[in-house]
Amino acid sequence: ARKIIIDTDPGQDDACAIMLALGSPDEVEVLGLTVVAGNVPLSMTSRNARIVCELSGRTDVPVYEGALKPLQRPQVTAEHVHGKTGLDGAEVDEPTMLVQDQHAVDFIIDTIRREEPGTVTLCTLGPQTNIALALQKAPDIAPRVKELVMMGGGCFEGGNITPAAEFNIYVDPQASKIVLASGIPIVMMPLDVTHQLMTTKARVARIQAIGSRVSDVVVQWLQFFERFDIEKYGSDGGPLHDPTVIAYLIRPELFSGRTCNVEIEADSELTVGMTVVDWWHVTDRAANATYMRNVDADGFFELLTERLARL
Ligand code: BDR
Ligand code: CA
Repeated sequence: ARKIIIDTDPGQDDACAIMLALGSPDEVEVLGLTVVAGNVPLSMTSRNARIVCELSGRTDVPVYEGALKPLQRPQVTAEHVHGKTGLDGAEVDEPTMLVQDQHAVDFIIDTIRREEPGTVTLCTLGPQTNIALALQKAPDIAPRVKELVMMGGGCFEGGNITPAAEFNIYVDPQASKIVLASGIPIVMMPLDVTHQLMTTKARVARIQAIGSRVSDVVVQWLQFFERFDIEKYGSDGGPLHDPTVIAYLIRPELFSGRTCNVEIEADSELTVGMTVVDWWHVTDRAANATYMRNVDADGFFELLTERLARL
């Protein structure tokens, strides 16, 4: 199994991503969860990560707390989408599992230094502050990372927090600039992909049909999360973003895209957080990412449902 660290800001869709990973032990080994401020403040993302571990019966997965706020910009959160706790929608017990003493940034650095070079994959499901801080503090880790798979960005679809920017990159564009310049092989799952992954009634019903405590809670989370899009856009469900990162590690053939240069705008107030994707190779800037654009949506939901059923 591929060794991964999941850096996350749960978030209902982050929670589904973590569960997809925990339900797939043959393919991925979760070395730890590192939490960051994002959808909600850090105290809540930390609580939520531990709730997900407990619901999944995996209190052995360590949770580390990281950055309280972005590198430079003022903190932005998304309670309007995820609710006050970040995991609104289902009644769950407060976690009893404790957070680790070590800081998330030091856990990331120590783990990458300890494991064989080229064996640890970083999965980022929120603003990339923790990863940027680790790269700044320990530049030696970059060449040792196997791959970084991230949910973030959007080009052809436009933005979801401003007309130009996707939320994760908008919250900490300076951090994403550092990540994209790091030389680590990067796979990006942007809104162009995740907006193809709507939690339609038929798909949610198939998750519901698992008939477990996990599936009950997941369905309630999804029904809360999707109300934002249903009410605003009249769509059949909402886009399930973060599990794409884990699905890629399990079944990469579900996704297609292009290797190209991706840069982040961090200065303009109008377009801050924009992902500038050189899809047509119109510049000489070196390719630094595989930018995904399409997904087999039914295959993705089949995989997610199958793995949730294992928890
Ligand atoms: C991203 O922002 C968050 O609201 C979601 O959890 C996802 O990581 C989508 O733009
Ligand atoms: Ca997220």
